[in-house]
Amino acid sequence: MSFENLTVATIESWLREEDHARLQLLWDAADAARKAHVGEAVHLRGLIEISSYCCRLCGYCGLRADNRGLERYRMTRDEILNCAREAREFGYGTVVMQAGEDYGLTQAFITDLIHAIKEETGLAVTLSLGERPNEDFIAWRRAGADRYLLRFETSDPRLYAMIHPPGPGRTISDRLAMLERLRGFGYEIGSGVMVGIPGQSYAMLARDLATFRNLDLDMIGVGPYISHPATPLGQACGTAAPGCQSGATGEDACPTLAPGDQVPNSELMTYKTVALTRLVRPDANIPSTTALATLNLAQGREFGLQRGANIVMPNLTPPEYRKLYEIYPAKACIAETGRECHSCMGARIRRIGREVGRGPGGRKKP
Ligand code: 5AD
Ligand code: FES
Repeated sequence: MSFENLTVATIESWLREEDHARLQLLWDAADAARKAHVGEAVHLRGLIEISSYCCRLCGYCGLRADNRGLERYRMTRDEILNCAREAREFGYGTVVMQAGEDYGLTQAFITDLIHAIKEETGLAVTLSLGERPNEDFIAWRRAGADRYLLRFETSDPRLYAMIHPPGPGRTISDRLAMLERLRGFGYEIGSGVMVGIPGQSYAMLARDLATFRNLDLDMIGVGPYISHPATPLGQACGTAAPGCQSGATGEDACPTLAPGDQVPNSELMTYKTVALTRLVRPDANIPSTTALATLNLAQGREFGLQRGANIVMPNLTPPEYRKLYEIYPAKACIAETGRECHSCMGARIRRIGREVGRGPGGRKKP
């Protein structure tokens, strides 16, 4: 069976595959491609959730501006630098600074932080701060930021528009164009989608995977959509089930799909997506995501690593903030501190016979 040059139709039929013996072929092919292209090392990216403020209204995200039930925080320069120091101490190659779209994080504040982190630790710096103006992207790249993460969430324009109202004073965003611009500014670019968004069909998810290939992404994160009760999507739809027909009406309703077309937001569907992601973009860096681990605390992270992924992102956010960064409920990670999360991840990697990566672990372009 060939997994090269998968067409959208073939990708869709793999997404619908339920036969265990055939799925084993998919897992094996993804694992072999991972091994051949990025090797045995699992790279660790230290995640710092630097602010939970957000000016946007993504339909699925618990950080959305109008979620008044959430206490917000913004970390100080010293707090963030301390996390970066911890990342260096633990031997990570990269820190990822993530936040809601928060203009309280000014261009100058982030620029200064990048300078300080680079000077003190020399670590690779990845930013995941939402849809900022070009001037910010350019300034941060000049300051030394290496990578930018911005998931496009779905390549279907109608579904995208439904769950991503424009920012204040703006028109609907074009994240694919934004990613191309980021690449033009010199960043390695990362993106990805959620699996099982209410209204997401198999054909849409198959096109998402083809888009990964066409964009030539350096990093691709995919995780299951997890319903959050304080969001419109969480209230309208609950958990997307196969053939989800939410019954919601009005402009914000999830588009009703034909029975059997709705992608389930399941663990198995996420593994299929991770494996196919590896096969369409063999040399990309692909994390085994926290959202996936949330669906199977005992083994989700490990299965992800055995079905195509080669990255994990241990959380360095201080415990008092971490519980407030509630993108979705019950985020995996029983560890309280960065140190606990670090040793848990290391043990999980070694238990499945892989090695912990050293160095920045950027994409090795052929
Ligand atoms: N369930 C799963 N993933 C989510 N994200 C945001 N909200 C949810 C949710 N309810 C993901 C998005 C975003 C990333 C930071 O977290 O894909 O890009
Ligand atoms: Fe802010 Fe989604 S609503 S990141």
